[in-house]
Amino acid sequence: MKLMRHLVCSLAFGASQVVCASAQAQGAAPVADPSQGEVIAKGVCAACHGPDGNPSQKDYPRLAGQFHEYLEKQLRAFQAPAGQRAHRKSPVMQPLAAGLTSQQIVDLAAFYSRQTPASASPVDPGRVAAGRRLYFEGNIPDGLPACVSCHRVDGSGMAPDFPRLAGQQPAYVSTQLHGWLENRGGPAKLMSMIVPHLKPEEMEEVADFLAQLKAESSR
Ligand code: HEC
Ligand code: HEC
Repeated sequence: MKLMRHLVCSLAFGASQVVCASAQAQGAAPVADPSQGEVIAKGVCAACHGPDGNPSQKDYPRLAGQFHEYLEKQLRAFQAPAGQRAHRKSPVMQPLAAGLTSQQIVDLAAFYSRQTPASASPVDPGRVAAGRRLYFEGNIPDGLPACVSCHRVDGSGMAPDFPRLAGQQPAYVSTQLHGWLENRGGPAKLMSMIVPHLKPEEMEEVADFLAQLKAESSR
């Protein structure tokens, strides 16, 4: 039975290769295969992101349940040459992303977006209330807009552009916000206009608020 399935699969794969080749000639995006993504995710990425995109170490981002469009965009950003507007700097992820094909990127993104996200624990539960206020109200005197307008009431985000933040690892969120302009910034990018209005302690507060949010996927 297993052998049969394997034969059918490779035949189907052969056929889809032909379809892909002609589709790509017309500039169409590759068709995602989450089962191929799972193979790479478990073989290469699991050491840091966990077998299903829920990491066990605090510094690594949760990928489970994230929108596939956002994950694809980030993997392409790690591949983009330095100096390009789309570039995202990470000494860890740049070399890992460099070897991925467009097909592997969509396969990986499809796999992770289908996994169930867990939530995280705040580093300091005493900061959650202040983080909640920033998330819902921003800080008008400082020119900080409320995060809720783009990332939704429950932090589930809005596909395709505004990523899910609910349950994200607080150490990761804090590192991203502190290093945004240096590592992910670019003129006229939305978060690059927001981050300069966040004080360092507010970055920790909002990260701790996001950690404990439990949201269903918004799609
Ligand atoms: C050695 C540890 C490690 C491995 C292995 C690893 N990652 Fe990462 N990944 C990281 C770190 C650290 C970051 C945060 C990078 C930063 O600071 O911007 C990250 C960030 C990401 C992001 C961006 C997440 C977000 O919310 O913006 C994606 C997507 C990602 N990794 C996918 C992958 C995939 C796919 C693989 C396997 C091919 C992989 N990673 C393997 C450590 C790792
Ligand atoms: C005007 C819309 C908008 C608002 C308001 C906004 N964001 Fe974002 N945010 C974005 C977009 C767009 C991205 C994706 C950036 C990218 O693709 O690199 C993002 C990404 C992020 C990320 C990175 C997620 C990851 O997985 O790496 C964090 C963290 C974040 N936002 C936090 C916040 C916080 C905290 C606030 C409120 C202080 C906020 N955002 C307000 C649009 C917004």
